[in-house]
Amino acid sequence: MITIKKVSWRELEKIHCFLKKSWLDFPDPYFRVISKIDNAKIFTRLVKVLLLNWLQKLLADYSTEMWIAEKDGNMVGISYVEIRRKRAILHGIYVIKDFRGKGIGKLLLQSVIRFCLEKDVHTFGLFVSRSNTIAINLFTKNGFKTVAIRNNIAYMELVLN
Ligand SMILES: CC(C)(COP(=O)(O)OP(=O)(O)OC[C@H]1O[C@@H](n2cnc3c(N)ncnc32)[C@H](O)[C@@H]1OP(=O)(O)O)[C@@H](O)C(=O)NCCC(=O)NCCS
Repeated sequence: MITIKKVSWRELEKIHCFLKKSWLDFPDPYFRVISKIDNAKIFTRLVKVLLLNWLQKLLADYSTEMWIAEKDGNMVGISYVEIRRKRAILHGIYVIKDFRGKGIGKLLLQSVIRFCLEKDVHTFGLFVSRSNTIAINLFTKNGFKTVAIRNNIAYMELVLN
């Protein structure tokens, strides 16, 4: 059974390790560049600095929330969103490879959408690589529309009210 739950500070270290793995696996060029650093020491330091700084800022901000998906107590997915002045931006959504195609991404995204509705968010946006067909399908099926494209990146938006 899959459980979706919000993440607390106590789980920061767990999320950090999971995110580190997930970045290696992201199809977007930015993440691929980071994952190509073959010096393990430099890579670990870079990811740690980037992620911990960013995560600490992210979780310290009252308008930011994270959800994780767990299967039998193990983390299999994560999503994080930032909300500012009735606008939300999805910073990431990720499901580990073996668990994809089982509806977990949809559960995570719908948890975020429900939260946005509760917070009276007007528009929920995200940036996605145009070559990321699976993610674009996930967002399109949940009501997002492409409103801008620059280079290989699409900005998609869901208008909630
Ligand atoms: C994008 C991602 C989160 C989707 O998670 P998932 O759990 O596999 O998705 P779901 O099983 O919930 O499927 C949701 C929708 O995605 C689309 N989808 C899923 N697998 C697909 C596939 N193999 N081919 C095409 N579309 C697919 C479908 O539209 C599906 O809806 P449907 O089942 O009603 O047709 C996951 O593939 C992932 O972690 N990718 C790497 C990270 C990433 O690219 N994140 C997005 C960055 S913005």
